[in-house]
Amino acid sequence: MTLIDGKATAAQIKKEIAAEVEKMVADGHKRPNLAAVLVGHDGGSETYVANKIKSCAECGFESTLIRFEDTVSEKELLDKIAELNADDNIDGFIVQLPLPKHIDEQKIIEAIDYRKDVDGFHPVNVGRMSIGLPCFVSATPSGIMELLRRYEIPTAGKNCVVVGRSNIVGKPVATLMMQKGTDATVTVCHSRTQDIKDICSRADIIIAAMGKPGFITADMVKEGAVVIDVGTTRVPSSETKSGFRLKGDVDFENVAPKCSFITPVPGGVGPMTICSLMRNTLQAAKQR
Ligand code: GUN
Repeated sequence: MTLIDGKATAAQIKKEIAAEVEKMVADGHKRPNLAAVLVGHDGGSETYVANKIKSCAECGFESTLIRFEDTVSEKELLDKIAELNADDNIDGFIVQLPLPKHIDEQKIIEAIDYRKDVDGFHPVNVGRMSIGLPCFVSATPSGIMELLRRYEIPTAGKNCVVVGRSNIVGKPVATLMMQKGTDATVTVCHSRTQDIKDICSRADIIIAAMGKPGFITADMVKEGAVVIDVGTTRVPSSETKSGFRLKGDVDFENVAPKCSFITPVPGGVGPMTICSLMRNTLQAAKQR
């Protein structure tokens, strides 16, 4: 069994990006600038955004953090997005999700100029990705693809089961896995799927992305399978300073011995996600 080290891979990619940025700067270009909009004080969102800002520094980017209280109106948020769309100093920006209930998330996503949508959530980017055109691919799916590439995991003709059908992970990763060049045969399972155990146990590659801690158990996994765990549920823990720890969608302890490759949580897909955001921001800066 090979443990896929997302943390080390991400550190390597950040070094590659930083080297590219220094070359750009030496050639007289400005540093890429990523803005992050954070609404409220959700613990998870705070951590994610702090890590994104930290990664910007590691990659030699500028970053801009814009905060709103969770009482912000949809109009105020839309006005800020219009401002960021027009701001020549900002190459790309993200609005951290989830947003408070009184704000229409889809409306916010669609207000972002797709050329600055480094999250790859805008329907133009989603549509372009689905037909294989150049675009910003959303961070988690592209992080998963990068791990498969860097670990030289064969995908052509393989049976890939994606568990979860979210717009952010399940749907886009299923699309990428079936695309020409990757060539997996993809099945997508979700909360209404029958015989999920049977379907998973025939998979060469399982991508678990439904947000149910420990859902994928050893009896659902074939000997030699590749298991990619996207789950990051915060569960209470007496062993950490923060009082919680991240738990994946895979029962790692019992599943790992059966796998050819597996990602841990934390330290697997998570760190790669931020790298993909950095890569998209660099691409946005180059395109501008
Ligand atoms: N919330 C959870 N993941 C993401 C992400 O990749 N981007 C944004 N904007 N919000 C998120």
